[in-house]
Amino acid sequence: MPLPTLLAPPAPLHVDTTPDHVAIIMDGNGRWARERHLPRTFGHRAGMKAVREVVEGAIEAGVKVLSLFAFSQENWQRPPAEVSALMQLLEEYIARETSELAGRGVRVRVLGDLQRLSPTAAAAVAHVVERTADNDRLVLNLFISYGGRAELVEAARRVARDVVEGRLSADAIDEDAIGARLYTAGCPDPDLLIRTSGEQRISNFLLWQLAYTELVISPVLWPEFGRQQLFDALREYQRRDRRFGRVPA
Ligand code: IPE
Ligand code: IPE
Ligand code: MG
Repeated sequence: MPLPTLLAPPAPLHVDTTPDHVAIIMDGNGRWARERHLPRTFGHRAGMKAVREVVEGAIEAGVKVLSLFAFSQENWQRPPAEVSALMQLLEEYIARETSELAGRGVRVRVLGDLQRLSPTAAAAVAHVVERTADNDRLVLNLFISYGGRAELVEAARRVARDVVEGRLSADAIDEDAIGARLYTAGCPDPDLLIRTSGEQRISNFLLWQLAYTELVISPVLWPEFGRQQLFDALREYQRRDRRFGRVPA
């Protein structure tokens, strides 16, 4: 007799079809706090633990690149107290986790408009990036002060400058030329995008890079997301049929 589904073990993860690049929109910290009658910043703090678990899970599953959307360009418009609490947490995360990340072979990159960061946050970012630069087990892309449209605008400026200064001809502008001028230059596009908290939108994340990415929306609020939820999303990805506009072979 087959086991009732509740008792059935989860389907195994197939290591050979693990996505190389997983991106996550970490959403739902505020709702997690509200459910507990706590200030929103408590939700952000609880979210740090989820980051730690997901990084460990990604390494375990053999993911090569993990991209986390931590703070959007639009998030600067939140109340100043929330913004400064988030920046404080970023500094705290880097201070607490840098040696652990370095020890696990994680290379941290920070992508976004970093000019807007406070001097102390910018220094913390520079420290973790430099300290982990030689690692290659997992690339951890932290998107901070990031907007997808702003990234494309910046790429357009770089293309224009290269054309005006004679390094590039207008006819040579192709998809690779744009891709090479994005923050993510050299990084493969995400295979899988996970958004937590049930919201079904992209919120200006990786507009160019998500062209053929598989989407998994998890109802779980970010502070409750962990290794198990990551593995569930990876299994869901492994059931998908990626066609890239073609017909099945
Ligand atoms: C995600 O949680 C963290 C950031 C956007 C910085 P939210 O703060 O957006 O939480 P909700 O969406 O209000 O629940
Ligand atoms: C997206 O979440 C940004 C991050 C997770 C960092 P938001 O909570 O800011 O997005 P919206 O406002 O619900 O679209
Ligand atoms: Mg949100």
